[in-house]
Amino acid sequence: AQFAAERLLLFGATGDLSRRKLLPSLCALDAEGLLPEKLKIIGTARSELDDAGFRDMARAALEEFLPADRRGGMAGFLNRLSYQALDASTLDGFDELAAKIEDAGTTEGGLAIFLSTAPSLFGPTIAGLEKAGLTGEKVRMCLEKPLGTDLASSAQINDAVAAAFPEERIFRIDHYLGKETVQNLLALRFANILFEPIWNSNVIEHVQITVAETVGLEGRVGFYDDAGALRDMVQNHMLQLLALVAMEPPTSFDATAVRDEKVKVLRALRQVTASETVTGQYRAGASNGKAVPGYDEELAEHGLGESQTETFTAIKAHVDNWRWKGVPFYLRTGKRMPQRVTEILVQFRSVPHSIFEGQKLKTGAGLQPNHLLIEIQPEENITLSLMAKVPGLDEDGVRLREVPLAITMPDAFAEAQRRIAYERLLLDLIKGDQTLFVRRDEVEAQWNWIDGIRAEWELHRVKPQTYTAGSWGPSGAIALTERDGVSWHE
Ligand code: BG6
Repeated sequence: AQFAAERLLLFGATGDLSRRKLLPSLCALDAEGLLPEKLKIIGTARSELDDAGFRDMARAALEEFLPADRRGGMAGFLNRLSYQALDASTLDGFDELAAKIEDAGTTEGGLAIFLSTAPSLFGPTIAGLEKAGLTGEKVRMCLEKPLGTDLASSAQINDAVAAAFPEERIFRIDHYLGKETVQNLLALRFANILFEPIWNSNVIEHVQITVAETVGLEGRVGFYDDAGALRDMVQNHMLQLLALVAMEPPTSFDATAVRDEKVKVLRALRQVTASETVTGQYRAGASNGKAVPGYDEELAEHGLGESQTETFTAIKAHVDNWRWKGVPFYLRTGKRMPQRVTEILVQFRSVPHSIFEGQKLKTGAGLQPNHLLIEIQPEENITLSLMAKVPGLDEDGVRLREVPLAITMPDAFAEAQRRIAYERLLLDLIKGDQTLFVRRDEVEAQWNWIDGIRAEWELHRVKPQTYTAGSWGPSGAIALTERDGVSWHE
């Protein structure tokens, strides 16, 4: 399906994602001259706005969420926008929407549709689009999470979309794949000869993936309390990171080859037992030096009672294949952690035999096994720890110490622009490149594994342990790795 979209239809155009990420990304792309010249953007949502009203809303969003030096003139971008009010839960109004799209520009170029609405609207929206003739061969469909709450509901959504669009025209967003440093994982692994020969259980002892956030509920009470950390963060973002770390080398950097390899990893994930997981829920504490309420108090403020939703989870995962036999992948994610950090730590094994036994070691702790730390956000660094000799003429032996071999991305690429992850993804959607979008079999493999964990939690009546806001989660999280003689990287 090689065509460039010349019209972008945005459902949920007045919503949070649209204001914070989508419109700012599109405007930033425009400012750099990266949008097709003819591209028109048609917003739709329930609010009764006209074109001018939508442009005003967009201008305000851009001023709030896009740095001034990335906005360009803005007028040109705002001129691309138009708006049609629509209640997507009924079929009425889709014909008017189609007419609006016709008005908005050429019909030769393709149409990209972005659904940034509640998944309960996906089915009715697709029915409306079909009725109005908006599912033809030059139409792409882009879906934003949450794509279901378990395998069954996700399959239902996928079926509904598949009834109107073939998989080659379905673009499922996982915005982590739009992050530069996440894509850099592929470059690190497959554009260098150094890592691949040692990227396996012979040399790697374990892997840690941390996605820590300082924010709490951020007003998304209803959504979050139904989801929890496992479904909000692990099912999608963390499993995609894991897949990129663990996948076999694809034969090329194209959508089929890359996704074929990722899905094999996701299918090889071993069913986790309850004892290999930890869940937590934060209580009042401090975040960035400010007192913050507990999750229970935030729920109470919204008139909601106690809940067993986890705001933190840690999991010991295994990829059951030849390469990763016996290598744990420790995952942890939580709200109200001490700092915002997403990172991947690859811990290598100790040298098989130390010739330095009895020599002075700086820490007295013995030779430190090497590790590779890939910082994804907010810092963008790649650091390999190496042992080195401390310079000097020590009489009683060689002194050794761990030193970093580091790439600081902003220094290495001074000219690089910090981008919103959606910039890459929206551009790929418009061009029609699916490499950084999630295929149906991936999403379903992800849900399948997550469902297994939730079933374990139910069976064992797992309740989240409490942790203080601003800490690294409940004590169980530390125990989870300490049992294996491993500490979380901090
Ligand atoms: C979203 C989750 O998918 O990712 C949010 O729903 C989370 O709960 C967000 O805060 C984190 O994204 P980022 O890009 O800020 O790491």
